[in-house]
Amino acid sequence: MTRKPFSPSRLSRGRRARPSGAPWSVLVFAAVALTLGGADSRSGAPVAPPAEEGAAGDTVSFVNDVLPIFQNRCAQCHGAVGEDGEVRTEVSLNLLEYERIMMGSEFGPVVEAGSAENSFLLEMIVEGNMPEEGDPVPEDEIEVIRAWIEAGAPNN
Ligand code: HEC
Repeated sequence: MTRKPFSPSRLSRGRRARPSGAPWSVLVFAAVALTLGGADSRSGAPVAPPAEEGAAGDTVSFVNDVLPIFQNRCAQCHGAVGEDGEVRTEVSLNLLEYERIMMGSEFGPVVEAGSAENSFLLEMIVEGNMPEEGDPVPEDEIEVIRAWIEAGAPNN
């Protein structure tokens, strides 16, 4: 057996219905896309996910991987209960609840599912603007958040 040792909780993403059929069809699509060279997202065709994204790319979980980072580094200002007993949500951004994250701040969305490039939240971290106080987010944690957003920011 060549099956990789997934943790059982991550298998739950299999419940998400996939529009295309067997995995090999994705590979064939990728191969054709590569052969055609110029064909990319601008053509309007869905771009097949890379077969191997390395590291956490294909299996990143919101609950297990992303949320703990927000809990450790962001919640004190975005979602956790402070000493006064009130939930602190700077700019109305709560990073402890999936729906609230996707809703964004009082200024608008901060995560664009599928596009790390257009996700303000990631930009703030990468440029060192967030967290506003404390240590900057280390590179490996940034990559986890990036991979999650690129994977469509699933609630998994
Ligand atoms: C010490 C408090 C504090 C911590 C910790 C903190 N933030 Fe913030 N955050 C703020 C404040 C205050 C603002 C609003 C002022 C500003 O934009 O500089 C803000 C604004 C933001 C915004 C901009 C929202 C918008 O639409 O303008 C994002 C995104 C954000 N934070 C994400 C994060 C993330 C992700 C983390 C953890 C890695 C984090 N913050 C940690 C205090 C904090």
